[in-house]
Amino acid sequence: MATVYISRKFPEQGIKILKDAGHNIVLGSGNGSFAKNAKGADAVIPFLTDSVDGACMDAIGSQLKIIANYAVGFDNIDVAAAAKRGIAVTNTPGVLTDAVAEYAVALALAVARSIPQADAFVRSGKYKQWDPNLFVGMELRGKVFGLVGHGRIGCSTADKMKTAFSMKVVYYDAFRDPAAEERCGISYAPLHDMLVQADIVSIHVPLTDSTRHLIGEKELRSMKQGAFLVNTARGAVIDENALVEALKSGHLGGAALDVFEQEPKLTSGLAKLKNVVLTPHIASATKDARDRMAETATANVAAVLSGKNPLNPVA
Ligand code: GLV
Ligand code: GLV
Repeated sequence: MATVYISRKFPEQGIKILKDAGHNIVLGSGNGSFAKNAKGADAVIPFLTDSVDGACMDAIGSQLKIIANYAVGFDNIDVAAAAKRGIAVTNTPGVLTDAVAEYAVALALAVARSIPQADAFVRSGKYKQWDPNLFVGMELRGKVFGLVGHGRIGCSTADKMKTAFSMKVVYYDAFRDPAAEERCGISYAPLHDMLVQADIVSIHVPLTDSTRHLIGEKELRSMKQGAFLVNTARGAVIDENALVEALKSGHLGGAALDVFEQEPKLTSGLAKLKNVVLTPHIASATKDARDRMAETATANVAAVLSGKNPLNPVA
């Protein structure tokens, strides 16, 4: 009987897939070290808050066959170290695309129309009379939506912005993809050229060595005066200190962030700003996506433990 270690509380249908396959499940509590708690496991399902490096893999033991990350992003896993040890690494692509894309749209609207701020205004009893100057925001129709990254989530977000709000979509990606341009009806521009024309910029790239601080001081300065920045990808794609400065100076109209550079810590000054919307990494938090993520992670575990190839290998 193989043992599967799951980081924390996890959707039932995922557990069922593993039980039906005859595996022994150990559910962590989120306390203590992942390596220690997972010691002896044949398969592990880490959450994105679990950092799994080579030392962690060695501490779990040489019987470890698969690391099935319960996320689409896998910057928390040392993929090269796993490859060296013959351990499969899988993620959960596709199943959370719409959840995240819908949330990116919601954040764009929330920041462009100051929805959380307006809600706080009403709750605190400040709404005394209608005022045409209250919370005047930006309309989306006909504006330019700048996409950083044209993967599944980026394309889905672009599609929603185009069809629902008639925005023009311009994307930047390190890899230009004419087929995606055709399929998604978007046009390409180098990063700077995209940033100077976008009214809203939304981040949809994974965190890698080449995307860390992709949006830094220079890039923020390139953005249009009053433009908005949305991040549902990984915090460290943006230099958060530089972002705080760009928001403080009034150069940017606002930012909506679901992810942070030092999650869950906030960069100093960020929470004091009025023109930001901050949420706790919940873009993929729909019941549908969580259930399907659990099914995907456990199906990968079941496949590898029965000697088959992983279904969603990251490399
Ligand atoms: C969430 O951030 C994910 O990568 O699935
Ligand atoms: C992730 O699912 C992506 O490709 O955007």
